[in-house]
Amino acid sequence: MTTFMVGRRVFNLTTTTPFLQSSLRYSSTFNFYQNRQLEQYANREAKPLTLRQLVFFGRHLTEEKILKSANYVRSELPVRIAHRLRDLQALPYVVVTQEGVEKVYKLYWTAFEKFRTYPPITSIEENTKFCKFVGSLLDDHAVVIPNLSLGLSLSSPFLSPDKLDSFMRRMLVSRISRRVLAEHHIALSKTYLAKDSPAHEAEPRVGIIYTALDVKRCIDRCSTILRDRPLWVHGNEDVRIDAWPEVEVEGHLDTKFAYIRDHLEYIVFELLKNAMSATVLKHHDSGSSLPPIRVTIVAGEDDISLRISDQGGGLTSVNAPTNDPMDLFSFSHIRNASRLEDSRLGALRTASEEGLRATVDEQLSRWQKHSYYQPKNRDKLEEHGTAPSQEIMNIVRSRIGIGLPMSNIYATYFGGSLELVSLDGWGTDVFLRLPKLGTNLEGIEV
Ligand code: COI
Repeated sequence: MTTFMVGRRVFNLTTTTPFLQSSLRYSSTFNFYQNRQLEQYANREAKPLTLRQLVFFGRHLTEEKILKSANYVRSELPVRIAHRLRDLQALPYVVVTQEGVEKVYKLYWTAFEKFRTYPPITSIEENTKFCKFVGSLLDDHAVVIPNLSLGLSLSSPFLSPDKLDSFMRRMLVSRISRRVLAEHHIALSKTYLAKDSPAHEAEPRVGIIYTALDVKRCIDRCSTILRDRPLWVHGNEDVRIDAWPEVEVEGHLDTKFAYIRDHLEYIVFELLKNAMSATVLKHHDSGSSLPPIRVTIVAGEDDISLRISDQGGGLTSVNAPTNDPMDLFSFSHIRNASRLEDSRLGALRTASEEGLRATVDEQLSRWQKHSYYQPKNRDKLEEHGTAPSQEIMNIVRSRIGIGLPMSNIYATYFGGSLELVSLDGWGTDVFLRLPKLGTNLEGIEV
């Protein structure tokens, strides 16, 4: 029998959890070399970028620039992953044994090893292979957020709220940053190969950054998709509704700025989704029509601001599990009791297997797979009367509770902010501010 000492505790390799076994193996002399590699990378500083740098670099692409971008991704990603692997290794034993955490650790370790050993990219052909390699890792990592959220929600009784939330923040910001670099490089490579600038597209972009992102258009797209959903809402009980609320947009309607469309849409989509559910739950049996959700766009000198106002009763009403609106961003059950609710953990388990679709387009295509989602099937839906099918309820209930904390992380990634103000008994105002000049560095921590 093989035993190991960690501190004063003796562990038996045959009876410990697989995660601990692998951690112990990594710390044994057998794999000392690998751990030394990790230390070397973890000791390097990440090189954060600004949106403006990403745009300027990608404007006039040459072969040399594409290869430079590829090799930056190849050498920068393992450094950023190494920082987070070290973070995972520092978690208490009781946390690393929770469901989901081991899976994330293994995914990161594998990606770290693959990037670390990937040879330098010296030609466009090699870059095409590299893009495929990065693309498949992006797919493999679709399960990271639900697994991590599941594991850390289950760990909530063993970690202080501050420790848990700052760990999650580092993990999630770092993940966004890696995906931005990877997706931007893949998009630049496609543009270069097409020998065509995406400027002819409806909205011009450089890589994944839309250089004149039309804010009202993003809001309209999100509200159209959300209003096209099956007419059921899930609160304490499942409620059949006649319509989703209207979304009215006012203010500086022609606002455009350089931003990552997926990030803005993720946030707007989540905020509108919450506003619609709250409005419906509060007003569906009032006999009068639903009050609209009002979105105000303001283009300031340095920032773009959005205010989303609903009349859904506010956040401290019966619909919300917490007293301080900002607690909704927390992963700790002490700040947000719903973290340990069975329904939420169950939804996270499902998402841990299937992977979280992070963009509105991905979410849409997933919903569209359900026959009842299609607008043309509306009358089929009507036939269900008050007895919704399991299929519909699965769509309606897909509430894993990650939307708000993720929106906060997307908002703050390039130096913006997200604030929720509850007018208890009336509604909620959400204020989103995003810097418009693109000069802030990514908010990653080493
Ligand atoms: C992640 O999604 O967690 C990543 O690190 C992506 C990267 C491996 C390309």
